[in-house]
Amino acid sequence: MRYHRLGDVPPKRHTQFRTNGSLLVEEVLGFEGFSGNESILYHRFSPCRVKEVGEFTPLADVPGMAHVEWVPDAHVHRLTNTAPLAPQGDTIFGRRLLMWNDDVEMAIAKPAEAAEVFYRNGEGDEVLFVHEGSGTLHSVFGRLPFKAHDYVVIPRGTTYRVELEEGPHTWLTFTTPGEIETPNRYRNRYGQLLEHAPFSHRDFHPPEELERHSDRGHHELVVRVRKGFQHYTLDYHPFDVVGWDGYVYPYTFSIDDFEPVAGRIHQPPPVHQTFQGPNFVICSFCPRELDWDPLAVPLPYHHSNLQSEEVIYYVSGKFGSRRGVDVGAITLHPSGLPHGPQPGLVEASLGKRRTEELAVMCDTFRPLRLTPLARELDDPSYALSWYEEEPTVTAASTIT
Ligand SMILES: [Fe+2]
Repeated sequence: MRYHRLGDVPPKRHTQFRTNGSLLVEEVLGFEGFSGNESILYHRFSPCRVKEVGEFTPLADVPGMAHVEWVPDAHVHRLTNTAPLAPQGDTIFGRRLLMWNDDVEMAIAKPAEAAEVFYRNGEGDEVLFVHEGSGTLHSVFGRLPFKAHDYVVIPRGTTYRVELEEGPHTWLTFTTPGEIETPNRYRNRYGQLLEHAPFSHRDFHPPEELERHSDRGHHELVVRVRKGFQHYTLDYHPFDVVGWDGYVYPYTFSIDDFEPVAGRIHQPPPVHQTFQGPNFVICSFCPRELDWDPLAVPLPYHHSNLQSEEVIYYVSGKFGSRRGVDVGAITLHPSGLPHGPQPGLVEASLGKRRTEELAVMCDTFRPLRLTPLARELDDPSYALSWYEEEPTVTAASTIT
């Protein structure tokens, strides 16, 4: 991310800075010790200040978020249809885990209400892909409005609360112990996005306006740490920042601002890459012109992702290489198996010059584990969807 500044900051860091005569509390919030990106925030109250220490709730005790594994009895391609899921829970604890490994958790959320507590992920970055709905991410960094088709990227350490506006609300969420970044190959040595990147800095939207709360009162804060949630009671509003600057802050990027790459012949999945995390990538498949060579095959070739698990969430449009896969469905093509278009689809695609597909893909380099919710939503017929009966060969047809 680029440097951004909001509100009031002193001309020199680590110097006295006051509001109405009171000395403000400077907080350096950063990565990799003091060697990674950081932001410096100026609080009215000490961010360490807690009035009461509440309970620690293990992740295992939170239905839907617990790392409970369903071990399928067969290794096959899977289709998980999340469309029938009804709205449930709030903006934090309503996330329903579908699959995970040590690098990333993927969940579906259809929040019915806003969480009343303030929340901070103390040990992981989060991405909310907003399939449906709109709202505002309120945080120590300010107000960040979001709308359908936005990726909302929230770095660890961000205390936030989500206000929901128009619904229904459907999010695909990612949580990683690593950092969510734009791919290295899109950036120059200074971090600026290059001309060939499928987006520019103008497409990334930082918080717009600070909240600057100075009120006291009773506020609950929940921090995700050590495979659980630690509860605290504060006697001040945590959005007390009067100014901040730096490189770490939540932002939105709309999938509709991703500039798709097309070619004379089929372009490989890395052209769709949007973000990188440790041992995984997030890609955006967007409406685009298709391959223009007269002999081009516009659909993906069969491929064996020997070191990848490939997860695709279908957002809208028709996905040319998939039959019977509707909006809200997730396909999982695990490592060790080839996959490609289902029978007949390649022939049907020949000569097509445009696709309206919109989908989010997450490829992980280490195997994913599935939850009981994935079992509940599993469509076992998908594994056989490449199979078709051979036409019966009769004696007569053999003679001709
Ligand atoms: Fe694939």
